[in-house]
Amino acid sequence: MRSTLTTCALLCAAAAPAVFAEDATKKLPPVKALALQKAISKKALSTKAHELEDLAYSTPGRNRVMGSEGHNSTVAWITGYLDEMSDFYTYEVQPFIALYSDANGTATADGDELEAEAFEYSPSGDVEADIVAVDNLGCEASDYPDEVDGAIALISRGECEFGLKTALAGGAGAVAAIIYNNEQGLIGGGTLGPPPRPEGEYVPVVGVARRTGNQILNALEDGAVTGTVTTVSDIHNVTTYNVIAETICGDHDNVLTLGAHSDSVIDGPGLNDDGSGTIGILEAAIQLSSYSTNNAVRFCWWSGEEFGLLGSTHYVETLNDTAGALDKIKLYLNFDMLASPNYIFATFDGDGSTFNLTGPPGSAEVETFYRQWFKRRGLNITATAFDGRSDYQAFADNGIPCGGLFAGADETKTPRLFKKFGGEQGETLDPNYHSALDNYDNLNFDAWVPIEKALVASIAEYATSFDSLPSAKKVRARGIEDGKLMRRALEDRPFVRRGHAKVWKV
Ligand SMILES: *[C@@H]1O[C@H](CO)[C@@H](O)[C@H](O)[C@H]1NC(C)=O
Ligand SMILES: *[C@@H]1O[C@H](CO)[C@@H](O)[C@H](O)[C@H]1NC(C)=O
Ligand SMILES: *[C@@H]1O[C@H](CO)[C@@H](O)[C@H](O)[C@H]1NC(C)=O
Ligand SMILES: *[C@@H]1O[C@H](CO)[C@@H](O)[C@H](O)[C@H]1NC(C)=O
Ligand SMILES: *[C@@H]1O[C@H](CO)[C@@H](O)[C@H](O)[C@H]1NC(C)=O
Ligand SMILES: *[C@@H]1O[C@H](CO)[C@@H](O)[C@H](O)[C@H]1NC(C)=O
Ligand SMILES: [Zn+2]
Repeated sequence: MRSTLTTCALLCAAAAPAVFAEDATKKLPPVKALALQKAISKKALSTKAHELEDLAYSTPGRNRVMGSEGHNSTVAWITGYLDEMSDFYTYEVQPFIALYSDANGTATADGDELEAEAFEYSPSGDVEADIVAVDNLGCEASDYPDEVDGAIALISRGECEFGLKTALAGGAGAVAAIIYNNEQGLIGGGTLGPPPRPEGEYVPVVGVARRTGNQILNALEDGAVTGTVTTVSDIHNVTTYNVIAETICGDHDNVLTLGAHSDSVIDGPGLNDDGSGTIGILEAAIQLSSYSTNNAVRFCWWSGEEFGLLGSTHYVETLNDTAGALDKIKLYLNFDMLASPNYIFATFDGDGSTFNLTGPPGSAEVETFYRQWFKRRGLNITATAFDGRSDYQAFADNGIPCGGLFAGADETKTPRLFKKFGGEQGETLDPNYHSALDNYDNLNFDAWVPIEKALVASIAEYATSFDSLPSAKKVRARGIEDGKLMRRALEDRPFVRRGHAKVWKV
């Protein structure tokens, strides 16, 4: 490989030292939003989506879950593209050890088999005991009555994450837990987040439908109910990988960072979640390689998002060890689920006007950028909450402005969203969320293509200048207070550092 200095000097007009500047023919033009947008084609996205699905389907698990052959080959597939662009990007494959989990479970009440599903990181167990209902939503130790000791705790979903409820049940001496939904249908799995937790040890835990929970509650009115919970859990460490690529060109002290997660859940190939984001930023990286940029642009493919934002959290923690490394990231943009079948166009609620969770300073301006982009094209856009369900969280925790785009997961299309975006009212935005049906055939390119164009437009904007964001000086002056504001809001509204796996009530 050629030395990066020479390559950069030849390719980057902006960064070229005088000695190389004569070779004008090899200089790349500065990036322009319209040109990048024009370069986006449905075909390029679709071809890569087929490739990604093939990687999953050529393995026995037919998935791309962290630690699997399907995920390993996803990482190799990404770096294969990056290798072809070695004149333009350097990259690093960052290994880390992560706790993997696969759990199955069954439960009965008064001898009747319940429709149940275990949570990730539930320990194995096989218990029979009385079922005892927990007060309120089971988010406080005081919600767990003394009778929970030695019993199976019956807890409603809602307010706080499954991991907290399970740990509190363990802390109160329960031998197992059953969490019932607070909306229609099965909870359908979810992650507790890797142990340990200060509130207590996890106990075997399954999720059931609201109807099932209510049936048990009714039976408890008439007397004791005996239940069983049986879980079979495989929890072990795996080595897995983040991929971090950065333009050779541009100012490496002022970095635009984009991220998507490269892992899927175990149940399917994860083409929308998050094949769409993985391909979305990869295709953007490919198109960007025809241009020069003022600011360096970093593309990150995170592993272990589905187990609780493991890869992005690990990366931010390692950067934090190097003085000033996090300060160089001026903006983080997240892309997780861009091609949802019953889509919305959503951007993070940076100014907190919709969900009362304000992003770090600068996030409001990014929200405005995306809103204007859609508005100018006559397209509607709505807000999505900084609810800790994707990889921006570790960046936001460090006061880095965050933004991004999202087409919907397990939320319902409300009448209001139906008016704005059409589709199927009352249906889930992605009915195949975390299932085997999250495959190529169910990608919605009517969502993906416009979102991809907005994605590259934001790269052109912020790779050129961060001037539209509050200056570092201004952020420093206000930063601590604004940072606190966000954290305060997050503490008030139960927040968890978890993936798009269902981890808390909404
Ligand atoms: C994934 O790759 C690593 C080496 O990079 C290897 O140790 C591991 O066994 C691979 N996993 C699978 C399931 O192939
Ligand atoms: C859970 O069930 C699935 C489907 O039957 C199976 O492939 C998997 O190995 C089971 N996991 C464990 C930990 O038993
Ligand atoms: C996983 O690895 C960590 C170190 O990274 C270690 O502390 C932990 O005990 C391991 N857990 C298991 C289940 O092997
Ligand atoms: C970053 O490092 C500082 C000092 O070492 C520490 O106080 C802070 O908690 C760390 N933040 C994260 C997100 O790791
Ligand atoms: C945008 O939303 C409004 C309702 O708020 C609706 O009347 C209009 O048709 C929508 N426009 C598009 C392009 O969907
Ligand atoms: C927004 O959150 C703050 C902090 O939690 C709270 O004090 C305030 O009442 C909330 N505002 C609204 C409108 O809910
Ligand atoms: Zn996701």
